[in-house]
Amino acid sequence: MDDVIVLKCGGSTLENLEADFFESIAAMQRQGMNPVIVHGGGPAINRRLEKDRVPTEFVDGLRRTTPQVLEAVEKALTGDVQRELVRALENSGACAKGVTGSENGLLQASPVDIEKLGLVGDVDTVHTEQLEELMHRGCIPVIAPIASSKNYGRLNVNADAAAAAAATALGAVELIFVTDVDGVLRGGKLEETLTESSVKTYMEEGIIYGGMIPKVKAAAACLEGSIQKVTIANGNGKNKNEDGTLKGTTVVKEHASTAHTIEMMNNQEV
Ligand SMILES: Nc1ncnc2c1ncn2[C@@H]1O[C@H](COP(=O)(O)OP(=O)(O)OP(=O)(O)O)[C@@H](O)[C@H]1O
Ligand SMILES: [Mg+2]
Repeated sequence: MDDVIVLKCGGSTLENLEADFFESIAAMQRQGMNPVIVHGGGPAINRRLEKDRVPTEFVDGLRRTTPQVLEAVEKALTGDVQRELVRALENSGACAKGVTGSENGLLQASPVDIEKLGLVGDVDTVHTEQLEELMHRGCIPVIAPIASSKNYGRLNVNADAAAAAAATALGAVELIFVTDVDGVLRGGKLEETLTESSVKTYMEEGIIYGGMIPKVKAAAACLEGSIQKVTIANGNGKNKNEDGTLKGTTVVKEHASTAHTIEMMNNQEV
C-alpha cells in the first residue's frame, strides 16, 4: 500500500486535540495518503486505575503491568480513548474504524521482561492484511496497542513501540509521534534534529527521561527501510512548518544529519 503515514496519538495530548487536527488527517486522506492511527491512553488509564484502586508504577517509561493493570488498560484504551478518536475523525468527515491489536492476530508480541515489567510486550509480528483492507475501503484504522502472545495471553505494548512496528510492517513513508510537548527539549529549547547517537547520549545524561524514552527508542529503531521521516511534535497545532505539517523534533540517521551539515556548510560558503 502506497503513502502510508502512521500517527501515534499520545494519550497525553488527546484531550487537547482540536477539530483542526482531525480535519488535517481527513484532508491527508483526500489527497491520496493513507493515515493509520495508533493511540496511547496515559491519563485515561490512570483514571481507570484510580477508580478501581489499582496501584501503578513506571520502569524506564514503561508501565509495569499486572493482570489488574492490563484490565484497566484495555478498558481505557478500547472503551474510552479509541471511541473518542473514531468519533472525532468521523466528525471531520473521515471513515475510521477502531481495531484492537490483540484481536485477529493483528499484533503478536513476546514479554519484554516478566520479572521487571510484568505483562508488557515487544511486538514480533504485525499482520497488516486487516489494516490494508480497511485502507482500501477508505477507512482510517485506529489501533489500540494491546497484543496477543503465545504463552501469556494478552500483553500491554507501549503505543510508541506499537506505532513504530506498524509503520515498519506497513512500509510507511512517515511516522509522527503526536504528544504534549513541542518535541525533544533540552534546557527548555526545542531540538529540531536529533541523530541516533545524540538520542543515546541524551538518555544517558537524563535529558530524555520517562515517556520520551520509548518514543526516541522507537523512532531510532524504525529508521531502516521505507520510513523517510520520523517526527515528534505537539498536537496543539501551534508549531507548524510553512506547508502546514507539524513542526517538532525530526529523528534522523547519522549519515543523513552529516549530509545535512555538509549541505548547510556548502550553503554558507556560497
Ligand atoms: N527531553 C525531553 N523533552 C520533552 N519531553 C520530555 C523529555 N524527556 C522526558 N519528557 C517527557 O515525555 C513526556 C511525553 O511522553 P508521555 O509518555 O508522557 O506522553 P505520550 O507518549 O504522548 O502519551 P501516552 O504515553 O499516553 O501515549 C513529556 O510530557 C515529558 O514529560
Ligand atoms: Mg508515552
